[in-house]
Amino acid sequence: MTEHRDQQLRQLISLLQDGEFHSGQKLANELSVSRAYIWKLMQQLEELGLEFESVTRKGYRLLKPLQLIDAKSLSKSMTQRGLSDWKCEILLLTDSTNEQLKGEGFRHKKLLAAEHQSAGRGRRGRQWVSPLASNLYWSVGWQTQMPVQQLGGLSLVVGLAIINALGNLGVKGVQLKWPNDIRYQGKKLGGILIELSGDVAGALQVIIGVGLNMQMGATAAQQIDQQWMNLNEVGPEISRQQLLTEATIELSRALELFEQQGFEAFRDAWQEVDECYGQKVTILQQNQELKGIGAGVDSTGALLLQTGKGIVPIYAGEVSLRFRH
Ligand code: BTN
Repeated sequence: MTEHRDQQLRQLISLLQDGEFHSGQKLANELSVSRAYIWKLMQQLEELGLEFESVTRKGYRLLKPLQLIDAKSLSKSMTQRGLSDWKCEILLLTDSTNEQLKGEGFRHKKLLAAEHQSAGRGRRGRQWVSPLASNLYWSVGWQTQMPVQQLGGLSLVVGLAIINALGNLGVKGVQLKWPNDIRYQGKKLGGILIELSGDVAGALQVIIGVGLNMQMGATAAQQIDQQWMNLNEVGPEISRQQLLTEATIELSRALELFEQQGFEAFRDAWQEVDECYGQKVTILQQNQELKGIGAGVDSTGALLLQTGKGIVPIYAGEVSLRFRH
C-alpha cells in the first residue's frame, strides 16, 4: 500500500471516528476525490477489519467510535513522564510490529505500534488477529548485555509491567498465566511475544511484542480459537493511547530493574497475579503431557509444578489450566 493511500485511509478514519453518519459526498469533498473512490477506500477499511454500516442517503457510520493513536502526543506524554530518550513510531498498516523492529529497524528504546497487522504473530507460530484500530499491537526494542540464560523470566517481567500499567489506570483483577498470557477470569486479554537476535557473546537485541484486546468486534474475533475478551469489558474505560503510554513507562522501569537485579526482584509480585498457583496444570512439551499443581515460580522465572515425584521446574511448554473450586 502506498504512503499516499495510507494517508488517505488515515484521513478517512479521522473523519469517521465520531461514530456519526457522514455522507459519501462530504467525505469525497474533504479528501478531494470522487464518491466512487471513497467507496473503494471504505471497502479496504472493511477488509482491514473496521466495522461500519452504510445507509442510502445517510452515508457511512462506524459501529464504534474510535481514536487513532497519535505519535506526536504519545511522544509528548512520554517525554513529560521522563522517557525523552525513547523513540515512538506509529504505523497505520504493517505485517508485524515485531518483524518491523528486526535487523535494520532495530533501535534500543524504540516503541513501534501499528493500527493493523496483516501477519501478526502469536507464540508457537500462531496468528495474532489484528483488526484495524480496535486493539493495541506494539513492540519495543531493548538492547542488553544480560546473558541469554538469564532472560528466562523476561516475559513474566513484561507481563507484570502491563499489570502495573493497567492497575495505574484503575483496571484491577488481571492475572498472568505462565509464561506470557494476560488474562481476566480465565479469558485471554493479551499476550507477549519475545524474540531475540544478536551475538550470543555480545549485546543482545530483544524485541518485546505485546498484543492487547481492547474493543475487538465479533467479526474479526471469529478467527480466534480460544476463550478471549476485551479490556473494555473489564472497565473502567481507558484509551489505547493512555494505556500505551503507561505500559511503556512501566516497561522501561521493569527492564531496568530486571537488568540490575534479575527476576528475583519480581518474584513476589508474580505470586500476587499467578493464575496457575494452586490450580491443576497440564504442560505440553513435545507431545508429552506433564500434570501437576501450580506451585509458583523459582528465582529464574521457571514454573514450579507439584507432581507425584516432587516439585519440578518447567522452563518451556504449553500450559493449560483446570480450575479447582
Ligand atoms: C501470544 O500470546 O501468542 C503472543 C501474542 C503477541 C502479539 C503481539 S501483537 C504485536 C507484536 N507483533 C506481533 O506480530 N506479535 C506481537
